[in-house]
Amino acid sequence: MNNFDDFVGQQRNIFLLKVLVSNCLKNSLPLKHTLISGPPGTGKTFLIRLIAQNLERPLIRLQGNNLQRVDDINSILMNIKENSIIFIDEIHAINPNIEELLYSAMDEKMYSLFLGQGSNSKIINLELPPFSMLAATTKITQMSKPLVSRFSLKIYFDNYKDDEIRDILTNKINVLKCSFTKKAIDILATISKNNPRIAINTLEKMVEFANYYNIEKVGKQELKKFLEKACIYKYGLCAEDINYLKVLKNYRQSEGIGIQSLSTILNYERSHIEEIIEPFLLKKKLVLLSKRGRVITTEALKYLDDYSLN
Ligand SMILES: Nc1ncnc2c1ncn2[C@@H]1O[C@H](COP(=O)(O)OP(=O)(O)OP(=O)(O)O)[C@@H](O)[C@H]1O
Ligand SMILES: [Mg+2]
Repeated sequence: MNNFDDFVGQQRNIFLLKVLVSNCLKNSLPLKHTLISGPPGTGKTFLIRLIAQNLERPLIRLQGNNLQRVDDINSILMNIKENSIIFIDEIHAINPNIEELLYSAMDEKMYSLFLGQGSNSKIINLELPPFSMLAATTKITQMSKPLVSRFSLKIYFDNYKDDEIRDILTNKINVLKCSFTKKAIDILATISKNNPRIAINTLEKMVEFANYYNIEKVGKQELKKFLEKACIYKYGLCAEDINYLKVLKNYRQSEGIGIQSLSTILNYERSHIEEIIEPFLLKKKLVLLSKRGRVITTEALKYLDDYSLN
């Protein structure tokens, strides 16, 4: 079992959660409804699992896009036990009809159950036991304000600092019982796009590579060889990032390119470009958004001249 100290970063929120969880346990109360938002792979599910484990209470896990009809939520709310935890992942994707039913459930622990249809229909108001609603979202701006306001504790994650990624990697290396030099860990941290999931995924692949080649301790040279084979370049950019930048470079003369044209040229969904490729490139200032479209920066042109790892 993990404990809160296994969670790297977010110290203020982790401290607050420790206090709240301890009070809930002492007084046998539910945790305040809590919403965690942030980019993919930044630890939302991990933190919710930690909360549930520390509360030692059952977790009912639901996926927002599966909550589309009233029936999808009826049986869950009717069967919750005192202090149960309901975890809705990607809560922005629930249907607005269900959202309205959740308001009174979360506010007053009242739930209106609709039975039958047409003239034979009736409403039964049920009183629910105390429960906690924990939710995660990568798209908080797509949630309605009334729904967001029902969560009394809101935690926002952003990308991690290099030293936090280094700590996550070091902890994982200890769990996996493998051996890396400090330099290799530093390089891994710089190519993880400041994202824990990317850091751990790359580390795990490197460990497989090391096992295959009987490498006992991974140093800079071994890591560089692996990253070359895995097509991971400076700053952690991969082949699709490089392709994206090369297309922008070719369109430099016309001063920017629109998202639709980019999507056609690269053959990627618009959402993949906007949600997966661009956020990190924008953060690194390798691309700019202008009225005319996406524009490559001088930094990116320099980057394209040499993106090998030093
Ligand atoms: N702060 C952290 N400390 C230690 N490990 C972390 C941290 N954040 C994330 N991780 C690890 O990174 C991986 C990805 O985290 P997780 O699945 O919780 O992300 P997520 O925010 O729920 O992503 P998604 O939005 O895609 O569901 C997990 O293996 C998790 O244990
Ligand atoms: Mg998750």
